Amino acid sequence: MIARASGGVGLAAALTVLSGWAFDVPILRRIVPGQPPMVVLTAIGILMLATALLLGTGSGASRPIRRAGRWIAAAAAAVGIGGILQYLLPLPVRLDDWVQRLAFGPLKPGSGMALATAASIAAVAVGLLFQDAPRRWLRDLGTLATLWGFVIAAAGVLGYAYGLGALHQAGPFSRMALVTAVTLGVLAVGALFSRPTRPWIAPLLCAGEAGSPTRHLLPAVVVAPLVLGWLQLQAVRSDLIEAETGTALLMAVLTLWLAALVVRVARNIDRRAVAERRLRETLHGMNEALERRVAARTQELAEAQDALVQAQKMEAIGQLTGGVAHDFNNLLTIIRSSTDFLRRPDLPEERRRRYLDAVSDTVERAAKLTAQLLAFARRQALKPAVFDAGERIRGIAQMLDSLTGARIRIVTTLAEGPCAVRADPVQFETALVNLAVNARDAMNGEGTLTIELTCGRPKPSIRGHAGSPSPFVAVSVSDTGSGIVKEQLTRIFEPFFTTKEVGKGTGLGLSQVIGFAKQSGGDVDVASVVGRGSTFTLYLPQAEAGIGGEKPAPEPEGQALEDGDQCILVVEDNVEIGRFCTQILHDLGYSTVLTQTAEAALAEIEAVPFRFDAVFSDVVMPGMGGIELAKRLRALHPEMPVVLTSGYSHVLAGNDAHGFEFVRKPYSAEEVRKVLREAVAAKPKVRPAPAET
Ligand SMILES: Nc1ncnc2c1ncn2[C@@H]1O[C@H](COP(=O)(O)OP(=O)(O)OP(=O)(O)O)[C@@H](O)[C@H]1O
Ligand SMILES: [Mg+2]
Repeated sequence: MIARASGGVGLAAALTVLSGWAFDVPILRRIVPGQPPMVVLTAIGILMLATALLLGTGSGASRPIRRAGRWIAAAAAAVGIGGILQYLLPLPVRLDDWVQRLAFGPLKPGSGMALATAASIAAVAVGLLFQDAPRRWLRDLGTLATLWGFVIAAAGVLGYAYGLGALHQAGPFSRMALVTAVTLGVLAVGALFSRPTRPWIAPLLCAGEAGSPTRHLLPAVVVAPLVLGWLQLQAVRSDLIEAETGTALLMAVLTLWLAALVVRVARNIDRRAVAERRLRETLHGMNEALERRVAARTQELAEAQDALVQAQKMEAIGQLTGGVAHDFNNLLTIIRSSTDFLRRPDLPEERRRRYLDAVSDTVERAAKLTAQLLAFARRQALKPAVFDAGERIRGIAQMLDSLTGARIRIVTTLAEGPCAVRADPVQFETALVNLAVNARDAMNGEGTLTIELTCGRPKPSIRGHAGSPSPFVAVSVSDTGSGIVKEQLTRIFEPFFTTKEVGKGTGLGLSQVIGFAKQSGGDVDVASVVGRGSTFTLYLPQAEAGIGGEKPAPEPEGQALEDGDQCILVVEDNVEIGRFCTQILHDLGYSTVLTQTAEAALAEIEAVPFRFDAVFSDVVMPGMGGIELAKRLRALHPEMPVVLTSGYSHVLAGNDAHGFEFVRKPYSAEEVRKVLREAVAAKPKVRPAPAET
C-alpha cells in the first residue's frame, strides 16, 4: 500500500516535471514555486525508479513483470551511476547536459544533476534491484542501499526545511531541487516498505511485541527534535532570542522530551510486567485447580475401577462356587443313593455290582473335577518330564481321530526334528484333548482340525502379559468352526464358563489348558474370527537338554517282599481318613501304626528303629507337615521309604513332590498298594535279619 502510493507520487512528480520541460512551463519543472527545477535526467531517473517500484510490488505480479521491473531498476541505477561518474571523471560531455539538450536545450550554468541526487537514485535503484535476490547478504545489501538513498534525500529536504543555504550552494547537495529531494525520499520509503518482512521494516509493521511501541516511539523521537530544531532556528533568525539561548532552550526541551519518553516507555514496560505477572498467577491458579480436578477424577476413577474389579471378583467366585456345588451335588446324589441301595440286604448281586460301579465312576469324575480346578488354579502337583512333543502328538492322533468323528479331517503338521519340551506329559495330552474336543464342538461335527507343532519360537505378548525371547514349543490347534465372539474371548478361560447346553460342557476344559500352560511356564494364545474358526496356540518352554524321556519306574531290586509282613507308619491329621487309610492297609495285609502329627511320627521311629518298612504321610498337617518330615527322614534314615499323599498343597504345586513318592487324593486301594509295594521294594536292604529264636 505504502509502496504503491510512493510509486504513484514518484511517477506523478517525474511526469509533471518532464511535461514542464516538454511544454516549457517553468512552474511544472519546479512544482514548488520559487525553488530550483528538477533537471530532465533526474526526472527520467525518478520515472524509472517509480516504474520499477510499481512493477515489483504486489503479490499478484507475475514473473515477467517483476523481471521487467528489475531491468528498469538496473537502468535507473545506470542513470544514477552515470550522474556520479560525471563528477568523478573528467569527461568531455556531461550526461545531464546531453540529456537536457535532447529534451529542451543546454543546461543553465550552475544547474544539473546534483551528486547527492545521483547517489540517491543509484542507491534506491540498487535496493530495488536486489530486494528479491536469492542470497540473503545481497538482499541485506539492497535494504542498506535503500536506507542510504533515503538518508541522502532526507538530508536534502532538511537542508531546505532549515534554510541551510550553505548545504545547497556548494558540495554534493548543491543544485539538488526540493522536489527532487522530497520525491526521492518518498520513493526510498516506498522501496523499503515494498518488502515488509525485511529486518529493518518488520519491527515497524509487525503486529507483535515490538510493532506497537516502535510505531509510537519512532515519530516522537524523529519528528519532535526536527520540529523543535526548526522552531529554534526560526526564533533565532527572527531575532526573538539569541543563538546561545536558543541552543540552550532547545537542549533543555529536547532533554525533557526524551526523558519523558523514557519514563513513558518504562511505565509501559512496568504495566506490561504487572499484567504478565497477573496473567501468570491466574494461569498458575487455573493450572492448580485443573490438577486438583484431574487428581479428584483419577481418584474417583480408581475407586470405581476397584469396585468393578471387586464386583467381577465376587461374580467369578460366585460362578466358581456355584459350579463346584452344582457338579458335586450331582455326583454326591449318585453316591448317596447308591450307598443307600447297597445297604439293602436283599439286593441281588448283579445290582450290587452296578451300584458299586456307579460309586466308583462317580468318584473318578469327582476326582477329575477337582484335578481340573487345581489345574486352573495352577496348583496341581505336576510331574514334569522332558519329552518330544511331536512324538506325543503322534501318539494321541489315533485317539483324537476317534474322538472327533469321521466327518472331521485331522491335519497334523509337525516340526522336522524332535521338539523337546519340559512339562507334565499327561497334562499335555489332556490339554490337547480338551482343545480338540472344543474344536469338534465348534465345528458341529464337520470340518478340518489342524494341529501344528513348531519349536524355537519366541513367546509373544499375550493378553497384556509380556512376551519372552527364549525358545518355546508352540502347538496350535485350529478349527474351521463357529469362532468366538469378542465379548466371550476374555471369558472362555474362566472356570465353568460354557456356552454349551446343560450336560454337554462344564466349562473346565480351557481352565485346565491355561492353568497347565501357566504352571509349566508357558501360556495359551487364541485368535478367532466369527464364522471362520479359531486357533488356540499352546506355548511351553522348550527343553534345553536332549530328550531324556520319562524315567521308567526303576525295576525293584531283588524279590519284591510279599505284602503282609510289613509295618507301615501312617501319618494323617484327619481322624476319619486316618482310620480309613489304616483299614485299607490292613485289608491289603499290612500292619499299621497311626500318628496324627509329623513330630509324633518321628518320635515313633526314633523309639524303635527298623520297626517300620515305610512311612505313608499326609502333606498338609499342623506343625511340621509331611514334606519336612520326609526331608528329616531322608537325612536321619535314608533307607526309610516315604510316600506322600495330598489332595492339594501349595508346596507340591510349586515343586513336584521334592523327589518323594507321591499319590494324589482321592486314592484307590489299588494305587496305595502299588506305590507302597514299589517303595518298599526299592528300599536298600540294610534291615538286620530278625534274630533267631
Ligand atoms: N474352538 C472353539 N471354537 C469356538 N468356541 C470355543 C472353542 N473353544 C472353546 N470355546 C468356547 O469356550 C467355552 C469354554 O470352553 P471350555 O473348554 O472351557 O468349556 P466347555 O468346552 O464348554 O466345557 P468342558 O470343556 O468342561 O466340557 C466353550 O463353551 C465355547 O463357548
Ligand atoms: Mg471344552
